[in-house]
Amino acid sequence: MLTLLAIESSCDDTGAAVFRNGQLLSNVVAGQAVHEQYGGVVPELASRAHQQHLLPVVTAALRQAGIDKNDLDAVAVTQGPGLLGSLLVGNLFAKSLALALGKPLLAVNHMRAHILAHFIREPKPAFPFLCLTVSGGHTQLVVVRSALDMEILGQTIDDAAGEAFDKTAKLLGLPYPGGPRLDKLAQTGNPRRFPFPEGALEGYNFSFSGLKTSVLYFLKKETAANPRFVEENLADLCASIQHTIVQTLLRQLKKAAQATGLHQVALAGGVAANSGLRQGVQALAQAEGWDVFIPDFEFCTDNAAMVGQAALFQYEAGDFASQLTSPDPRLKL
Ligand code: KG4
Ligand code: ZN
Repeated sequence: MLTLLAIESSCDDTGAAVFRNGQLLSNVVAGQAVHEQYGGVVPELASRAHQQHLLPVVTAALRQAGIDKNDLDAVAVTQGPGLLGSLLVGNLFAKSLALALGKPLLAVNHMRAHILAHFIREPKPAFPFLCLTVSGGHTQLVVVRSALDMEILGQTIDDAAGEAFDKTAKLLGLPYPGGPRLDKLAQTGNPRRFPFPEGALEGYNFSFSGLKTSVLYFLKKETAANPRFVEENLADLCASIQHTIVQTLLRQLKKAAQATGLHQVALAGGVAANSGLRQGVQALAQAEGWDVFIPDFEFCTDNAAMVGQAALFQYEAGDFASQLTSPDPRLKL
């Protein structure tokens, strides 16, 4: 009966989770409000906040699971990709704990963990499947052959989908992170009112920086004529921007599903919470005959349960890390 502690600290969420015998017992996440006033994550402040949060978060996860640290059989931690300073805090903590307890260490790839979050709870996709991972830092279309064998079909060449939401939301004057707020406002707006350029490229790649620029110039022009333009058209602007981002994602997803012949399609990452994307994928699934998998929101945004789940697969495969392991901010999938 394996008891595992997992730690996540790649960006601005400090997470700890405990698994016993393959079951998730606790999943604790502390966010960092400190970044709100800057309109984005400030790396130096993120690592300092991780230092403050990590011990209380780990303690809470162990307590909620009813586990003493001496009962742990292994410690897992996110190795990358992410912010170097943030990753270092989690890595040093996990390595020290594993060393002190004399237990093995597992180093987990954050992007694989987002995908493997699908295996925390039922319903679970069967391998192979296609996964669209959309977060604040990444946009990837991945063929998932097994827990340890994944291949990127396409990815963003500039901004991530979450960044596209957050940056355009900022142009509309919405506070950071704007994605969820833009989503909410979009629900009462007309998605076809303002046509913005889609970012689906040849093949399976994405580009979202053009959308941001196009929204910027459009708003400049319109507010020069009417200073209250944004205020008066906020819902339609949000709906139109969301529609553009979602259509871009769906276009590439559909192309990839058709080319690979995969009928099991999964969403992962924080943007999987977006209502337009969820509805769009469900509608496409009906038309194309796909089975769609979307994890609970708790497992979509950054969390340590997904890191623990990925580590369980690695444990089975004997893929352990040494004390010499260091974080890799640009770790590839
Ligand atoms: O996966 P995540 O928690 O962190 C990263 O690893 O980046 O994703 C956060 C991103 C942010 O950009 C946030 O604005 C976006 O997910 N997001 C949303 C929604 N909820 C979260 N974007 C659009 N609509 C939402 N409902
Ligand atoms: Zn993430």
